[in-house]
Parts: sequence; C-alpha cells; structure tokens
Amino acid sequence: MRILLFSGKGGVGKTSVAAATGVRLAAIGYRTLVMSVDPAHSLADCFDIEASLFHGRTSEILSIQPGLSILEVNIQREIRRHWREISTYITGVLRTSGLNEVEAEEMAILPGMEELSAMMYVNQFRRESRFDVCVLDCAPTAESLRFIAMPTTLDWYMKHIFPMQRGILKAVRPIANRVSPVELPSDSYFANVKELFNKIEGIDELMEDPRTTSVRLVTNAEKMVVRETQRAFVYMSLHGLTVDQVIVNRILPPEAREGYFRGWHESQQRFLAELEAYFAPVPVTTVPLFPAEVLGLSRIEELSRVLYNGSQDPAAVSRTERPYTFTRTGSGHEVHVHLPFAAKGEVGLFKKGDELVVEIGTMRRHIGLPISMAALTPVRARLNGGILIVEMQEAK
Ligand SMILES: Nc1ncnc2c1ncn2[C@@H]1O[C@H](COP(=O)(O)OP(=O)(O)OP(=O)(O)O)[C@@H](O)[C@H]1O
Ligand SMILES: [Mg+2]
Repeated sequence: MRILLFSGKGGVGKTSVAAATGVRLAAIGYRTLVMSVDPAHSLADCFDIEASLFHGRTSEILSIQPGLSILEVNIQREIRRHWREISTYITGVLRTSGLNEVEAEEMAILPGMEELSAMMYVNQFRRESRFDVCVLDCAPTAESLRFIAMPTTLDWYMKHIFPMQRGILKAVRPIANRVSPVELPSDSYFANVKELFNKIEGIDELMEDPRTTSVRLVTNAEKMVVRETQRAFVYMSLHGLTVDQVIVNRILPPEAREGYFRGWHESQQRFLAELEAYFAPVPVTTVPLFPAEVLGLSRIEELSRVLYNGSQDPAAVSRTERPYTFTRTGSGHEVHVHLPFAAKGEVGLFKKGDELVVEIGTMRRHIGLPISMAALTPVRARLNGGILIVEMQEAK
C-alpha cells in the first residue's frame, strides 16, 4: 500500500489537492481512500456531499465513485471504540476535580489521539490490503507534525517510561489508593495502552520507507507560508519522512500581470523562483488560482487534470533516498541527516542510551542507532550542503 501525506499551513489547499489526487488515483485504477486526519473536517464538504452540518456518515468509509472512498476520523467515536480504558480513567480523575461528566469527557481527549487513531486505520488497511493507496489529508502543519512524531514518541514512551510506570504502580497501588486523592490507573488501563500500541506497531517503518510513504507539501507563494514549508521540510526529514513534491497552489494567471493584482503577481513569481531554488531537486509543481472554489466532483476533477496533466501517476515513487543514513567510513562511522535550511547554531546533538538525539530549535528527534553503532558516541558534527554529518567513534 502507498501512503501519500498532504501537509501544509492552514488554508493553503491541502484538502482540495488531496481530493484531486484521490480522483486521479481512482481513475488510474487504484483502490483509493482519502482520509482526513484534521479534526476540522472538510473533505465531505469539498466533495459537496449532501450531509448535515455536523455529519457523522463519513466517519465510516463512504464510497464516492468506483475505486474512491473517503473517511473522516471522528474522535469521539474512536474513543468509544479504542480508548475506553484510557479515557474512563482520565474522565474519572477529572471528575474528582469537580468537572461534570460531559466536561470531563471532553477534557479527556488527549492531544495526539486523532493522529493515533488515524495511524491505527492506516495500519489496519495495510494488513487487510483493502486499499492500494491511502491519501492522508492532514491537519495544518503544527498538528500534522505531531502526527508524524507520534510513532517514535510512542515507541520511546513504551520503551522507557511505560515499563517503569507500570512497575512502580504495581508496587505502590495497594497503599497509594488509600492515600492518593485520585484513583491510580488500573491494570486494564495498561492493557489498553499496550493493545493500542500493538495496533500501530510497524507504522513507523512504513512511514520511513520512501517506497511506501511520500510527503507532499502544499504551499502558497507568500513569504509566511514559504517559511513554514521550509520548517515542515526539515521536520519531516528529521523524522525520517521523504518529501517528494512541493505543490504551490493559487498561482495568479498571466492576466493578473497588469492592473489591480500586479503587485501580487510579481511577488508570487519571486517566491515561486525562491521555492524552486530552495527545494531542488524536489520537484515544485504549480496550480493556478481557479475562478471559483474547488467544490464538487467536477471542479476537483479539473484541479486533478491541471495537477497531474491527465497523464501522471501520483502513486509513482520518485525519490528513494532516505533522509538519514548510517555509513561506515575509513576511520569510523557516520550518520548523515538530510537537513536543508538548518543553520549551524540551530543544531543540537547528544547521545542518550543507544539513541542519537538531534535538536533543531524546539524540534527533537531520537534516532535509534543500528546495533553496530549503538556503543559509539558522536565526536564531531558538521553541516555540509544541507546534510548534517555526525562522526561517531568508540567512547574512550
Ligand atoms: N487553486 C485554487 N483555486 C481556487 N480556490 C481554491 C484553490 N485551492 C483551494 N481553493 C479553495 O480554498 C479554500 C481552502 O482550500 P482547502 O480546504 O483545500 O485548504 P486546506 O489547506 O485543506 O485548509 P485547512 O487548513 O482549513 O484544512 C477552499 O474553499 C477551496 O475550495
Ligand atoms: Mg483541509
């Protein structure tokens, strides 16, 4: 199964582009699912599906046309389905602090639950080989970065914190429950966490395999958006995801060269040139601003024709180079992390257990080292042409 992730700043056109990609894929003959991970869903609206304002129908897989289905992950439903123990526990704790049932239930939605639920679906569809391509319409960048980071964060939690917490609680629960102001989590809580973890097991490998997962960044040719796109690119690389296309949406047509929109047209052309230079060799594709909203199947098809020329296969694998690699050199080992746009002072680096921790600004990634390198420590790092090269040697 191929996984195509569409990410980008709020309002740039992620949902429209994801929908258009789904339409193209289905036309080629792939069994395609377009899934919305954004809690503020608009996928059904984009396809102009007759539904009530707060539709529930698309929280089940809904067939749009042969070979094309959509799904909007509904978090309240997912909680009932998968998170019962966890949310029951948290709701219980929150109630003791004086919140009523409904408030407590709403507060018990932890950040990241939507993302995790979506991952479970992706994993399930892959196991069942139900779809050939899964197109993910992500939430605006900040939240979708959390989505990307989820498997590694959770993996880290399960390895380092979970066993400890569980062990400690086993020992202290009998006494603690008598003195603690809140009930401590029960064994079933831990069983639930474990079970959830099993459901997303393996997803990190899928996401880091460029033959399976591609990230496509949607952007507009405006300064603020361009910067966020660069940050997203770095973050994706840091998490081992391969960005294989940048889509610049809403480019003004040549007619706008004169008159009222002239200034806009000029600055767009300038940022477009910048984008192409920044992201090379990753291809930058442009989409014009249409005379109307991209609403309903025929407009989505039109966008799809422009985007894929009526001939391209959006599921084709174009880049197979991983964002980071481990190599052996004459004198030792090196870790190469593809980090365009990062400046020297911004990169922090240290070793923790058998993991290499790379920090860029406020982003952090634990990179699990292969066994042959686990005992090594970083001795030197340099940024060279957008690649962070970390030299690793035996600890003295
Ligand atoms: N090329 C285009 N020409 C004209 N209208 C467009 C174009 N691309 C997107 N739109 C319109 O812009 C609006 C926002 O697009 P869309 O919902 O796809 O963005 P989004 O990135 O998914 O937003 P959000 O971050 O809110 O999820 C929609 O009304 C859509 O129809
Ligand atoms: Mg959207």
